[in-house]
Amino acid sequence: MIRRRITVLGATGSVGASTLDLMAQAEATGTGAFEVEALTGGANIAKLAEQARRWRPKLAVTADPARLNDLRDALSGTDVAVAAGDAAIVEAATRPVDWIMASIVGAAGLKSAWAAAGTGATLALANKESLVCCGPALIERVKRAGGRLIPVDSEHSAIFQVFPAEAPERVAKLILTASGGPFRQTPREQMVAITPEQAVAHPNWSMGAKISVDSATMANKGLEMIEAAYLFDMPQDRIDVVVHPESIIHSLVEYVDGSTLAQMGPPDMRTPIACALAWPDRIAWPAQKLDLAALGRLTFEAPDLTRFPALDLARQALKAGGATPAVFNAANEVAAFAFLDRKLAFLNIAAVVAETLERATKAGMAFGSGDACGAALSVDAETRRMAESVIAGLANAA
Ligand SMILES: NC(=O)c1ccc[n+]([C@@H]2O[C@H](COP(=O)([O-])OP(=O)(O)OC[C@H]3O[C@@H](n4cnc5c(N)ncnc54)[C@H](OP(=O)(O)O)[C@@H]3O)[C@@H](O)[C@H]2O)c1
Repeated sequence: MIRRRITVLGATGSVGASTLDLMAQAEATGTGAFEVEALTGGANIAKLAEQARRWRPKLAVTADPARLNDLRDALSGTDVAVAAGDAAIVEAATRPVDWIMASIVGAAGLKSAWAAAGTGATLALANKESLVCCGPALIERVKRAGGRLIPVDSEHSAIFQVFPAEAPERVAKLILTASGGPFRQTPREQMVAITPEQAVAHPNWSMGAKISVDSATMANKGLEMIEAAYLFDMPQDRIDVVVHPESIIHSLVEYVDGSTLAQMGPPDMRTPIACALAWPDRIAWPAQKLDLAALGRLTFEAPDLTRFPALDLARQALKAGGATPAVFNAANEVAAFAFLDRKLAFLNIAAVVAETLERATKAGMAFGSGDACGAALSVDAETRRMAESVIAGLANAA
C-alpha cells in the first residue's frame, strides 16, 4: 500500500487530471491511500471545484484572481480554503508534502516548480519547460533540499527506468522515440493549411493543446532532447531520436557493450505517473496491459528534419547552451499559442523560432546574475517580446 500526502499543480489539465484519476483507481483497488494538501488550476473553475469536492485538499488555488469568487462560490459549504494568483500557487507549492506533481503547462509552471524543488519533497516533473529553461539549477536545487526529481514525460520515465544511475559511464547513448505526430506522412505542400483542430488531434496520446501542437511540429521532441540532456547529463551528440508511430517503446538506453534496453507500455500517461508516484516501489492499478501478439509489429523511421525543422533548432539550441534552450522554449511557446489563436500558420511556428533564436543570438541574450529561476524568467520575458515582434512582422508582410 502506497501512502502519500500530495499536491498537484495544474490539477485541471491532462496530466493533473490523470494523476488524480490514477490515485482514485489505486484507492478503489486498495493499493494506495492519499491525502491531498493543495490543488491548483487555471481558468477551469468547475473542474477544480469538482476535484476539490472529491479530494478535500486544505487549499484550492486558481491562477486567475478574477475567478476567485467563482471558486469560493463553487466550494461553499466545504472546509477547503481558496486562493488565487501566481503567489498563491507558489505558496501551495511550498507546503510540506511527500510528493508534488508539477503539471502546469509552459513557462508559467517555472516559479512553482522551482518553489517545489526547494521543499525536499519528491518532485514529479511533467512541466518540461521548466527543465528546459533552467534544468541544471533545478536539478541541483532538488538535490540540495534532499528531495528527488522523477521525470513524468513518458520518454524520460522510460530512460529513468532503464538508466544505470550508479554507473552512467556504461551508457553509450540515449534514444528518444517520437510518434511523429498527426502529420508524419503529410506532404509539405499540404502542411501549409493545417488547422489547430487537426494539430491537436494526436493519433496515440490524449494531451493538452500546447503539447499536442508541439508534438505536431516535433518541437516537443526537441524540448525532450534538452530535458534528457539535463536529466541524464548527456551531450546532444549522444541523444538520438527515432520515429516510432505505435508509441509502444517509450525510449531506449544503448549501453557501451552494444546492449540496448527499452521500456514499453500502452500509450497512457497514467503508467509513467504511477511510476513516479510509487518510486522506488511499484503500484498496482487497473492498467491496460501490452498485447504484443495483437500489435503484430513495431515500426521505426528516421525523423524528417526538412518537414519538422524544430527538432534540429532544439539541437542547435542545446549545443549553444547557456540561455539558448530557454530562448527556444519561449519562442516556441509564443508561436504555438499564436497558431492555436489562428494568428500564425502551422509552418511558420518553426520559422518564428528560427528567427527569434537568430535575433537573440545577435543580441547576445544571456542569463543575468541572481537566482536561476529569476534569470530564466527574464530571458523568457525578453524572448517573448522578440517572438511577438517576429510574428507581427510576418503578419505585416502578408
Ligand atoms: N498531456 C500529456 O500527456 C503530457 C505528457 C508529458 C508531458 N506533459 C507536460 O505536462 C505539462 C502539462 O501538460 P498538459 O497536457 O497536462 O497541459 P494542459 O492539459 O493544458 O493543462 C495545463 C494545466 O496548467 C494550468 N494552467 C494553464 N495556464 C496556467 C497559468 N498561467 N498559471 C497556472 N496554471 C496554469 C491549467 O489550468 P486550466 O486548464 O484550469 O486553465 C491546467 O491545470 C506540460 O508541460 C506538458 O509538456 C504533458
